[in-house]
Parts: sequence; C-alpha cells; structure tokens
Amino acid sequence: LAGVVIAVDGPAAAGKGTLARRLAESLGLSYLDTGLLYRATGRRLLDEGADPADPARAEAAARALTPEDLRRPDLRGPAADRAASAVAAIPAVRAALLDWQRDFGRTHGAVLDGRDIGTVVFPEAPVKLFVTASDEERARRRWLELRGRGVEADPAQVLAELRARDAQDASRATAPMKPAGDALLLDTTALDAEAAFAAAWALVRERL
Ligand code: C5P
Repeated sequence: LAGVVIAVDGPAAAGKGTLARRLAESLGLSYLDTGLLYRATGRRLLDEGADPADPARAEAAARALTPEDLRRPDLRGPAADRAASAVAAIPAVRAALLDWQRDFGRTHGAVLDGRDIGTVVFPEAPVKLFVTASDEERARRRWLELRGRGVEADPAQVLAELRARDAQDASRATAPMKPAGDALLLDTTALDAEAAFAAAWALVRERL
C-alpha cells in the first residue's frame, strides 16, 4: 500500500479525524489533518490582530507556516474555528497550501482529512470517503469534546456555529466542501467510533 492516498472529507465534527487516523494506522500510512493548516493560518492572523478575511495578510501567513504552528495548543475553539473558515475561503491561501498537501501525500502515501481532498487535492485518490452525520449529532459530539476540555458551551450555540461554518465551507467559490463524484458516503449518525471504523474499513477494503 506504499504511496496510496485516501481522502476523507466531510463537515465539521462528523468523525473524520478519528476515522482517518485509525485508517492510517491500520494501513501503515501517514495521517494529515489538513484542517490544522487552515486553523494555524487563522491563528496567526488573530495573533497579529489582523482580519482573517484579509487576502494578502492571510496568504502571507499561510506561506509562513512552520511545523511548530501546527502543534500549537490553541487551534481549537470557536474563535479558531471561525478564523480557519474565513482564511479557507481565500483562493491564494488554498493555493499556498496545495503543494504542501500534495507533497505530503505523494511522499509517504497518506490518509488526509479535510473538505476538498477528494475533489481538489487528490482527485485521483483510489479511495474517497465523505463522512457525514446529522447536524444535531455533530453538535452533540462537538459539545462533548468541548466539555472534555473543560469548556462549558451552550448546546444551541454550538449547533448554530457548526451550521454557520458548514454553510460557509460549502458555499465558497473555491474548493467548496462537497463529495467527489466517486466518493463513498458514510453516515455516522447512528455509529460510535468503533462501528464507524468497521464500516469505513469494509468500504476501503473493497476499493484497495
Ligand atoms: O477540519 P477542521 O474543522 O479542523 O477544519 C477547519 C476549517 O478549515 C474548516 O471549517 C474549513 O473552512 C477549512 N478546511 C478547508 N479545507 C480542508 C480542511 C479544512 O477548507 N481540506
């Protein structure tokens, strides 16, 4: 399987990350959470007091990303979510991050999770999963994740912010979130992490 790329896309908190990481481990491939690239870019702009929707500043931040930026502990949370989605709508930011993602996948073979892996970054990937779950279930998972980190959030607000971010990610002109034509759809609404992995594994084995 050396050199194989698997694309895992879908909306926020659908379980992509957990699934992609486990697939990578099971297949002996590297794993890349591409959302971190957009989060780290947005974070840099917040630190600079700049508007994450400023194209020139955002492109410069994306080009200046370092591996340390991706390991920052403050890349999750409502402000980082919004900043990530704002910079992700800027074409020059996406262009700046594209080669890096492609090099990563081509060098090691990898499972990449994101929004546009199957449509833009690796349209030739032999396996593409589009992972979804109902809005309410995804909001519930995000709320639990926040609580696990000691953040008490209002469930209605978590749901509203998740919907707003999905709407922005799905409606942008450049590389909008959507399933590739040949993506395999996996609805995890009624599945726990173990069952979601089993279902994904069966789909992956059929294609590889
Ligand atoms: O996956 P995660 O929630 O960490 O992604 C954060 C944001 O980064 C998304 O809301 C989206 O705007 C952007 N993103 C993207 N393309 C990707 C991965 C993430 O536009 N491949």
